[in-house]
Amino acid sequence: MGKTGKITVSYFRKQKEKKERIVMLTAYDAPTAAIAAESGVDILLVGDSLAMTMLGYRNTLPLTMEESLHHAAAVRRGAPEAFVVADMPFMSFQVSPEDTLRNAARFLKEAGSDAVKIEGGAEVAPLVARMVDCGIPVMAHAGLLPQRILTSGGYRVQGRGDDAERLLADAAALADAGAFALVLECIPAELGGRISQSLSIPTIGIGAGPLCDGQVQVIHDLLGLFGDFVPKHARRYADLGSAMRRAIGEYVADVRQGRFPGPENSF
Ligand code: KIV
Repeated sequence: MGKTGKITVSYFRKQKEKKERIVMLTAYDAPTAAIAAESGVDILLVGDSLAMTMLGYRNTLPLTMEESLHHAAAVRRGAPEAFVVADMPFMSFQVSPEDTLRNAARFLKEAGSDAVKIEGGAEVAPLVARMVDCGIPVMAHAGLLPQRILTSGGYRVQGRGDDAERLLADAAALADAGAFALVLECIPAELGGRISQSLSIPTIGIGAGPLCDGQVQVIHDLLGLFGDFVPKHARRYADLGSAMRRAIGEYVADVRQGRFPGPENSF
């Protein structure tokens, strides 16, 4: 905690030292952010998964800074005390260091986020160092990089065989650069454990096994709000999609049959 009682980045390193698992969950709007924060989630991630879960894009690439800022600001309004991390959209940090700093700062200044997340391995470490030097807390994201699916050939598990050494080196470079935490996406569980043990900063896994220091999931996968497909790394805790279909279907039928509004809904 900082002097204001609000969580700061050092809190997560202490959680790792105390072997307390960190819970991160995506949130994209104010009411969901409020519920997630009240339910005990440590970090709210305004992931660029927003592009697919909320905005109807086929992948995360089309997401713009303006769309991201709009949702990050809503999450902040819904959960004023929560630790909020905003994902930097595709091409918001790849063009130049100056552009990266300007875009990252917008999340802190305009949306009230506490930190930003960027995808990439050792090649983005100098960028992470530059942002941290300027006072911007950075969460790194290695392993499967959804922003690179067009060049990497799709959503594939990373770090198998010899590739494990590359990921261990990526993780070390990102931690040395000053990232306060590292998301590991879709890598073998054993490698998730090895990387977590090798770092003093916490790892937060999604499809990276139980030995990571924390876990992150996309809220739509947990709540059954994104079609019928459940990724292997996710567990469905509720089927809100079916509940919504049922409720909306009842409303439609009630209006058509003249059962709604009733006397209790009328003035
Ligand atoms: O955008 C997102 O939701 C993410 C998580 C999958 C880590 O980056």
